[in-house]
Amino acid sequence: MKIAKNILFISIGLACLPLYAKTITQDNGAPVGDNQNSITAGDTGSVLLQDVHLIQKLQRFARERIPERVVHARGTGAHGEFISDGNFNDLTMAEPFGAKNKITPVFVRFSSVVHSKGSPETLRDPRGFATKFYTKKGNWDLVGNSLPVFFIRDAMKFPDMVHSLKPSPITNLQDPNRFFDFFSLQPSSTHMLTQLYTNKGTPESYRTMDGFGVHAYKWINKKGEVKYVKFQWKSQQGVKNLRPKEVIEMQSKDFNHMTKDLYTQIKAGKYPKWDLYVKILSPSELNNLGYNGLDATKQWLNVPEQKVGTMILNRVPDNFFLDTEQSAFAPSNLIPGIEPSEDRLLQGRLFAYADTQLYRLGVNLFQLPINRPLAEVNNYNQEGASNNTMIKSDVNYEPSRKIKLIEDKSSKAVETIISGTVQQKKIGKERDFYQAGIFYRSLTKEDKNDLITNLGGDLNQVRNKDIKTKMVSYFYQADKEYGTRLAKQVNVSLKEVIKSIKQ
Ligand code: HEM
Repeated sequence: MKIAKNILFISIGLACLPLYAKTITQDNGAPVGDNQNSITAGDTGSVLLQDVHLIQKLQRFARERIPERVVHARGTGAHGEFISDGNFNDLTMAEPFGAKNKITPVFVRFSSVVHSKGSPETLRDPRGFATKFYTKKGNWDLVGNSLPVFFIRDAMKFPDMVHSLKPSPITNLQDPNRFFDFFSLQPSSTHMLTQLYTNKGTPESYRTMDGFGVHAYKWINKKGEVKYVKFQWKSQQGVKNLRPKEVIEMQSKDFNHMTKDLYTQIKAGKYPKWDLYVKILSPSELNNLGYNGLDATKQWLNVPEQKVGTMILNRVPDNFFLDTEQSAFAPSNLIPGIEPSEDRLLQGRLFAYADTQLYRLGVNLFQLPINRPLAEVNNYNQEGASNNTMIKSDVNYEPSRKIKLIEDKSSKAVETIISGTVQQKKIGKERDFYQAGIFYRSLTKEDKNDLITNLGGDLNQVRNKDIKTKMVSYFYQADKEYGTRLAKQVNVSLKEVIKSIKQ
């Protein structure tokens, strides 16, 4: 772009700084003569269609928004790096864990789940914790949440669950009558709801949350040996949440508190850090758990964990839209050494993110700077809207006698023996309530009180007595004290609760 030679002077206090004024142009680069007045037919006539600058300005303005994410629309991002604690080659070929002190650039996007793009950050929600590792072997996205488990265990139920949690199609209001209608018929949600209605559902800041991969993944080493792993980010700032009263205070004070906190702290050079831990199980250890180890509603309890590295966030984006809004995290963005486990929820996610991003950002989303891999991209995918790649060869097919891209045999899918029947059945060892009970009993007295207040508050908005009774029956089956306290809080008879369990 041409820079006009005029130098303006603006004064800040006593200092006088030169500012090079650039000529305003249209999108084709042509200079604009008047950015204040439309071209009209004289003093009294209408605006002329030939005012292409006006038309372009209005057209571009009308197209500024891209679709917001169908979930996790409200979020904020930051750049940083991941530093490996050691060489974990005996466990995985994954590049970020290949050598001690190895540095991998990252971009993290934190988010809330249900509420829309401009919604208050004070609202109760799990928080997204998505990390993109830019490795030399491709981008790896660890797309996790601030809570260790999930509401459902089969991707088939995700659209239904989100519909119930999103505003009503009739009133456009979020309504506990709708989502508890759904959850009262989905006992797998008992553990996650218990986690969510503690104060962990209203974190003080993004810096003071832990993050969880939730699903099991597979780590694969060069010999093709497989281990199942679960990831956890532990905040070095400690975990801090807002108590019910503090949420109300914050709502009236500043409902952008989480974004502001992250930007303010990073800009002040107070860089937040998280340690990455993994829990590791061999396939036979996984099978021997007393619950299904590939069930996203379960934590791996009493499995030792190992620290594998630390992440530091040290730069906020120069432009929110370019980096944060256009970032595309997908569980399908995997690298050699990391494969998905057979977890049914994860398997659905492998499709859903890449698919929604083709719609949200377009087919050439990997060319956007924030999503572009460090690794060179060489394949025969081509063209599509807004393509910026220059293909200089006419060989856009394979095999060919002329040029050949070479396959990296070490990156082949790990061989896995399977047997069984094609089927549509629930998983075994569902055990919907037992980990919710363990979690409830691990809470402090104050946290238990807040849980009853928070959960009771939303359940009390439910008009249908059967829904309330069923919900309480789930929490009662997790822990008798928990259910009994909740029954009192929401005015449900314990007799009815026990009757509902027997039925
Ligand atoms: C089958 C279950 C699920 C489906 C179908 C699903 C689908 C989606 C979709 C369509 C998006 C929007 C992506 C985009 O527009 O870029 C999204 C975002 C997200 N999901 Fe899920 N989701 C599921 C479960 C989960 C689970 C279990 C977690 C946590 C472990 C999770 C964490 C996230 C996060 C963190 C984001 C936001 C990523 C970002 O910051 O851009 N989701 N999900």
